Amino acid sequence: MKVGVVGAGMVGSSAAFALALLGIASEITLVDRNSDLAVAQAEDIAHAVPFHSHTIVQAAGYDGLSGADVVILAAGVSQKPGETRLALLERNAEVFRQVVAEVLKAAPDAILLIATNPVDIMTDITFRLSGLPASRVIGSGTILDSARFRSLLGRHLGISPQSVHAHVLGEHGDSEVLAWSSAQAGSTPVASFAAQIGKPFTDEVIAAIDNGVRNAAYKIINGKGSTYYGIGAGLARIVKAIAGDRRELLSVSAMTRDIVGVTDVALSIPRVIGSAGIVTELIPELNEAEAEALNRSATLLKTTATAVQI
Ligand code: 2OP
Repeated sequence: MKVGVVGAGMVGSSAAFALALLGIASEITLVDRNSDLAVAQAEDIAHAVPFHSHTIVQAAGYDGLSGADVVILAAGVSQKPGETRLALLERNAEVFRQVVAEVLKAAPDAILLIATNPVDIMTDITFRLSGLPASRVIGSGTILDSARFRSLLGRHLGISPQSVHAHVLGEHGDSEVLAWSSAQAGSTPVASFAAQIGKPFTDEVIAAIDNGVRNAAYKIINGKGSTYYGIGAGLARIVKAIAGDRRELLSVSAMTRDIVGVTDVALSIPRVIGSAGIVTELIPELNEAEAEALNRSATLLKTTATAVQI
């Protein structure tokens, strides 16, 4: 598995670091318009490799992406404290108009994995710019928000987040929808498990978890300027599913034909990921409030994406 990473800033390099340490990729190529940065990040990561795996990590120009199975797109600007993800749109759309063409020239058969924010709109833009099938244009979407949700649920219930199955749907951003009604601890609804252990989900607990998930990035950005380890690990998890044709159910963003009455919109729902990219998608069961919230999120994304000229 050869993985290209375009954008060697903190998100791209954290993804490369996770991929290298976990030995998911045999070869990783970092590309950045600042070639000194790409070289420095590649060398630093390469020096970690002998401790854990045998991945080849290198920096190159776009031509170095030739033969890549997956190319992670992490180029562009990130949020400043207080800034929303959607506020980045114009600047990052401009970056992608050049980047996507260069990537396709070098690696026409690659699956494109988008991390740049606002990730749902960037996924829509990449889909339109590339002309690739929707199954090969995947946004990291709410994989990270779902991990944050599982982690806070697991902490409340006193169980590993890996035993919590819960998804955040819609936008990776302020309008996202925490699917409480389908969240499970093992095979038991989380509400039922919480009641069994005498720690019910009161309005207060629900509000604290919702706030912890929805505002996690703002809090981290206030504290250290940007977020990167979480998303880096999430990107590695998506590549792992592709590399091993693992058919894992992950909440990621992609063009969605029809959801809660909105058509052709890029947003996150649980999707099965394998070597061809998105194998299939699962339209989740939602209660009325969740369906309404997802409709609002989808409508916002569709309106925003439609306004971007390609
Ligand atoms: C995150 O949620 C900022 O989108 C980035 O960590």
